[in-house]
Amino acid sequence: MFGVNENYQKLPGSYLFSRIAGKVNAFLQANPDQKVIRLGIGDVTQPLAPAIIDALHRAVDEMARAETFRGYAPDLGYEFLRSAIVENDYRARGCDISVDEIFISDGAKSDSANIQELFADCSRIAVCDPVYPVYVDSNVMAGRTGTYDAASEVWSDVIYMPCTMENGFVPEFPRETPDIIYLCLPNNPTGTTITKEQLQGWVDYAIKSGAVIIYDAAYEAYISEENVAHSIYECEGAKTCAIELRSFSKNAGFTGVRLGCTVVPKELRCGDVSLNAMWARRHGTKFNGAPYIVQRAGEAVYSEEGKAQLKEQVAYYMRNAAVIRDGLKEAGYTVFGGVNAPYIWMKTPEKMSSWDFFDYLLEKANVVGTPGSGFGPCGEGYFRLTAFGSYENTQEALERIRKSGC
Ligand SMILES: Cc1ncc(COP(=O)(O)O)c(C=O)c1O
Repeated sequence: MFGVNENYQKLPGSYLFSRIAGKVNAFLQANPDQKVIRLGIGDVTQPLAPAIIDALHRAVDEMARAETFRGYAPDLGYEFLRSAIVENDYRARGCDISVDEIFISDGAKSDSANIQELFADCSRIAVCDPVYPVYVDSNVMAGRTGTYDAASEVWSDVIYMPCTMENGFVPEFPRETPDIIYLCLPNNPTGTTITKEQLQGWVDYAIKSGAVIIYDAAYEAYISEENVAHSIYECEGAKTCAIELRSFSKNAGFTGVRLGCTVVPKELRCGDVSLNAMWARRHGTKFNGAPYIVQRAGEAVYSEEGKAQLKEQVAYYMRNAAVIRDGLKEAGYTVFGGVNAPYIWMKTPEKMSSWDFFDYLLEKANVVGTPGSGFGPCGEGYFRLTAFGSYENTQEALERIRKSGC
């Protein structure tokens, strides 16, 4: 009789977004005439930019002719895309990253879940609380997190770094020494970030304590402030201690197209072992390359017209962020984020729990957000709204929240 990976049985039930969908569906069944505005899930709504559509069309036509048809893509990615990433995301910012340190993938979710395979089973992970759930859940599946306490919602072997209003959402160095530190900056869900100097502090800490940083830069395109790093490799020494994850989902609307990349510097070693060589081996065995068509679309992100169009797209979402942030502030709410990220993180009013506020907004304003407690215990008492809706819906949602009288 076969056995199963028992670690899967340890995962707490009901994924956050299925629970939200269940509540919204029940509400709509009971109130079929209401128009619900969804500012919950972090998915984009604007169409792909024209430069990307053109590149997709051209690549599709190439696939229709024997002379230009492409089969399996190289597992580490096409050179044209890896070079464009190196030039635009790294060299242009003074980061000395080379093409053979870039690994093209189908997105940051799979890379952020898979990267833990490179590390010893006994590694201790440290995560911010609240946190993008994939970092913890992928380590649960690998059996690295100990036992789960349902009452406190914490894993015995995970080091949590609280990020709350009290510490300005800046994680503090943990008392116990971690082996793997996950940092997502700008942050999902809090929409906040840290300065380049603070990030340098984390790099110095990782080097001193022999830890590796998994740096998720999925929201890098939304940074508007000068003193915020766009890549961890802007920090001195980061190439010896950090892996960076990038996504095309939020800067270019590829959530349904699927493209990402991971940077594993050659200087990142554990004794004699190169993590770059390990990730290349892993990619070669378990991944068969992102589609040619999609990689050509990714290349177009870095063309002059692509850059100009995407700057406008990001500005469109950030105008929504300003509508939400300013509107909530005017209505008397305590609000964070929305300056360097497309997420607004608000304090729930009158000490309401995150789920109570979710129900309240759904009932009274017909607006859907995400309860902060779904991202970890320190998210309790907070609520996340995203700027990824249309401008008109965002304005209407704010009007309704203001009128809901909470
Ligand atoms: C922090 C963070 N990392 C990664 C992802 C997933 O990105 P991708 O669409 O590239 O898989 C998301 C998506 O919401 C995210 O919020």
